[in-house]
Amino acid sequence: MTIRIETDVLIIGSGPAGGSMALALATYGIDHLVVTRFGRLVRTPRAHITNQRTMEILRDLGVEDQVIDDATPKEWMGNNVFCETLAGDELGRIYSWQMHPLSEAEAKLASPTRINDTPQNYMEPILIHNATQRGSTVRYNTEYLNHKQDYNGVTVTVKDHLTNETYEIRCKYLYGADGGNSKVAENCGFEFDGEMGVGGSMNIVFDADLSKYVAHRPSVLYWVMQPGADIGGIGMGLVRMIRPWHKWLIVWGYDINAGPPEITDEYAIDVARELIGDPNIEIKIDSYSVWTVNNLYGLQNRDRRVFCGGDAMHRHPPSNGLGSNTSMQDSYNLAWKLAMVLRGQAGETLLESYNAERIPIAKQIVTRANQSIAEFGPIFDAIGFLSTEDPNEKKANMARRKENTPEATAQREALRQAILFKKYEFNAHGVDMNHLYESTAVASDGTPKPVPDRDPELHYFRTSYPGAKVPHNWFRRGPYGGTEILATLDLCCQGRFTLLTGIGGEGWVEAAQAYAKESGVPIAAVVVGPDRDVEDIYQEWPDIREVDEDGCLLVRPDGYIGWRSQSVADNATEELASAMNQILGR
Ligand code: FDA
Repeated sequence: MTIRIETDVLIIGSGPAGGSMALALATYGIDHLVVTRFGRLVRTPRAHITNQRTMEILRDLGVEDQVIDDATPKEWMGNNVFCETLAGDELGRIYSWQMHPLSEAEAKLASPTRINDTPQNYMEPILIHNATQRGSTVRYNTEYLNHKQDYNGVTVTVKDHLTNETYEIRCKYLYGADGGNSKVAENCGFEFDGEMGVGGSMNIVFDADLSKYVAHRPSVLYWVMQPGADIGGIGMGLVRMIRPWHKWLIVWGYDINAGPPEITDEYAIDVARELIGDPNIEIKIDSYSVWTVNNLYGLQNRDRRVFCGGDAMHRHPPSNGLGSNTSMQDSYNLAWKLAMVLRGQAGETLLESYNAERIPIAKQIVTRANQSIAEFGPIFDAIGFLSTEDPNEKKANMARRKENTPEATAQREALRQAILFKKYEFNAHGVDMNHLYESTAVASDGTPKPVPDRDPELHYFRTSYPGAKVPHNWFRRGPYGGTEILATLDLCCQGRFTLLTGIGGEGWVEAAQAYAKESGVPIAAVVVGPDRDVEDIYQEWPDIREVDEDGCLLVRPDGYIGWRSQSVADNATEELASAMNQILGR
């Protein structure tokens, strides 16, 4: 078989992981090719919650505005409603997705970006369109079959489904972003921990005008507590907004041991009407599919020149909205490392850090998403669903919460607490933002690892400790007090290292210039202070940066702190070079 195509990086898959890898590599000017099995991008909405960390990545890659244009704004996401049906009694609501006034303030302090709801069938076209505008090539109808690697590269066999031809592509690196049934991961022989198929679920996508039931309590998720809602699925029956307030997706579980039900239009309409609670509502079915809840994460994501990311490495339910977010974050973590190695700016050991940095996150998010399903249990317990199998008794138990009895008082309190506890699924800002990398691509500054002062799952922990995300602050630049407003992230990233310092830290600037000259690796040095590169708008930077004014923060191309120094050093050039060489494996 002849090699038809040669490329530096071959990406398998055009989902959130593959699309964002293509967009990042195209932005960095790295030669690459995407092959994807179908002749189209995803058809159904699938992922939707796009968290702040992902929005930071999309901001750096220059598509934040396009995503916001297509998204349902956060203002319409804030109520998570628990009800008997959409038309029936509401049992409770919680503020979600950082919409509680206190959480909203935390989110604003943590990042220049905002969470939003962007269905996957809107996100993927933005990623792929912008990637191709910047130089990506995508070959549709092309299926990855297998690969073999040698010292210099990887030879990949693919099948063109339009011609039925099989041919080879030669690449320097292969990225398997081929989803939850990843053939690339399977062919690499990666080990996994956990189980596939721990619950059964179905999606029903439909059109119906539900404005009168929901517009006064805007949310993306309406949780329906009906008999049967505690079986399989994602913990409870769900009516999810796709486009306000006329396009919807129902998630309804089934007993995995009994096998999936046969879904027909009639069946789907019945399920939808039951959950809405209106037997006459007009419903137009768009699609339906069955899927399984998984609880599985990879123990390694790299085999020499082959990497996997996204659902290929973490397979879990959509609870907490972590899937496509983590998939895009995997790709962004790897893209700059591949770029620097391919440009000869870094050694191969930089690539090892992808495994060290992303595998712990795979485990963390798979565990969290599955735990969130279990945490619906106390709600069902409180409404008396777990003490009986009889649907009528279940309904009677739930109604008993309205009575004026000591038991009903206790029931109301138990229900209130159980609903509030769901903040670990719907308002877990720390889960989204607190990734702390420990790898060779992070150089220690000798200080002890800080301990978060609040629950690290719920609250973002701001620190400039090496391995953490660079802390957010607002800076100004230009005439009249600064016509340009820039976040810390806007000063950093853009595919290169950045060194942040202040007045007195000029030694660091010289060190960055010396390192760039000697190694060919550019470091953008930014001095904060009056009449310097930027000024601190609100006088908050000294409280945030955790180093002295003449200290420095070395920020990696992905916005994570690679190293820091408390104050300027006499041997700044050697210190900075030592940190950079460690990070880059030079
Ligand atoms: P994904 O499966 O999206 O893409 C794989 C790609 O590889 C596809 O283009 C496929 O065609 C291609 N491919 C597969 N095999 C191939 C082969 N052999 N050759 C060539 N191409 C191949 N996540 C989230 O972050 N927030 C959320 O709110 C939700 N909500 C949500 C709701 C529901 C109902 C579901 C089912 C899922 C979610 N998710 C989610 C999860 C999210 O959809 C999922 O995590 C991402 O799609 C994973 O992205 P990947 O790119 O890794 O795989």
